[in-house]
Amino acid sequence: MPKEKIITGIDIGSTKIGTTVACVSDNKVSIIGVSGNIPSKGINKGNVVDIDSAVEAISQSIEKAERMAGVSISSAFVTINGSHIENLNSHGVVAVSPNETSEISKEDVARVIEAAQAISLPSTREIIHVIPRDFVVDSQEGIKDPVGMSGVRLEVETNVIHGSATAMRNITKCVNQVGVDVNELVYTGLASSYAVLTDTEKELGTLLVDIGGGTTSVIAFLEGSPIHSVVLPIGGKLITSDLAIGLRSRLEDSEKIKLRLSNEAMISRGSQNDNQEEDFDVSEFDLEIERIPRSMLHKILSARLEEIFRLVALEVTKAGLNGKLPAGIVITGGAALTVGIEKSAKVNLKMPVRIGTPKGVTGLIDEIKGPDSSAGVGAILYGSKLYRGGNLLSFDDKRGSIKIGLSKLFGKLKSFLP
Ligand SMILES: Nc1ncnc2c1ncn2[C@@H]1O[C@H](COP(=O)(O)OP(=O)(O)OP(=O)(O)O)[C@@H](O)[C@H]1O
Ligand SMILES: [Mg+2]
Repeated sequence: MPKEKIITGIDIGSTKIGTTVACVSDNKVSIIGVSGNIPSKGINKGNVVDIDSAVEAISQSIEKAERMAGVSISSAFVTINGSHIENLNSHGVVAVSPNETSEISKEDVARVIEAAQAISLPSTREIIHVIPRDFVVDSQEGIKDPVGMSGVRLEVETNVIHGSATAMRNITKCVNQVGVDVNELVYTGLASSYAVLTDTEKELGTLLVDIGGGTTSVIAFLEGSPIHSVVLPIGGKLITSDLAIGLRSRLEDSEKIKLRLSNEAMISRGSQNDNQEEDFDVSEFDLEIERIPRSMLHKILSARLEEIFRLVALEVTKAGLNGKLPAGIVITGGAALTVGIEKSAKVNLKMPVRIGTPKGVTGLIDEIKGPDSSAGVGAILYGSKLYRGGNLLSFDDKRGSIKIGLSKLFGKLKSFLP
């Protein structure tokens, strides 16, 4: 049985670098340290654009979380996004190795997943996750865990998420330069799904949309597993710059106006658009006017939200998922707090909508309760699940990192558990 373990998640966003440290036991994930949102540097739309600046921001974030947790972080699950993220569904088949009981072993499962990875990707691409969706044993479909079952032929349907090898190497390099090993890179959308989605939503069919500052990470679940992922290079920063153009204001002021407008709407929840008739006081900012009709501000915000959800709707159609996601859309990420977002998603996607915030952890939860923490908390929950399934992965106890020297076979199983 695994004992208590320190697991760290680092969410490398375009707006903030969030490090979260948790103490993980058999039945609990307790947050013991957070960095808060250290402003991101050197990262644009998920990609590293300036290594030195990115290293500096990551280092600040890690140090702050270390101080709060009172531990030294030596390894972490690190999020990755960017429009280079792509996915495909792949099939693997193997003969079950003959043994006395003719039972399917973990090694057979590892081999069939390895077989599903035999896809031709250009050398510029690297696999991030191989997620088994469904196993088939001698033509019997719908098996989630075939270990211990009898059979001679084992098949698997997997969802493979892959990314640009260069982008992956650069993120890893930045984290390594701070003296921290990368346990695994975790696609932001997948990470957030661990913190935000319920099992029922995943089973019924749902779309998770994590809208950050520079990107919108999308992941669709069907029958309990991911079926499609895509990252759009668009997010909350564009909403802010729309306001800046519309109001002829500075970006910093537009960001403040957006946050205040959204936070006020949150306080008078349930009547998000009710006070649109009232003017919004902007006298504290350096603008040509002192008051602006709220309806005008809402119009600017909703134009960009509409664009985001139209693009998401297009992706749903392209993936052939129209009418297959009855649990609707769950929106998370910092921009999920933008005023009017639920209405816009409902109108443009014609699905039920909810805002998702991180769940499933205890401890310092006040620090990570906002939707901007979903990916960081999710990275920890992803790591916890791998750790608890200790039969597949073992951790180096001294350094808290996954042993790289695992048998080649089990090394391939790094993303077996989603
Ligand atoms: N209360 C709020 N109302 C509206 N927007 C908000 C609010 N709080 C944060 N945001 C917006 O959320 C965005 C940042 O979200 P988040 O922290 O999830 O991004 P990120 O993870 O750094 O970026 P990305 O995932 O795109 O790389 C910013 O554009 C910010 O303006
Ligand atoms: Mg993000």
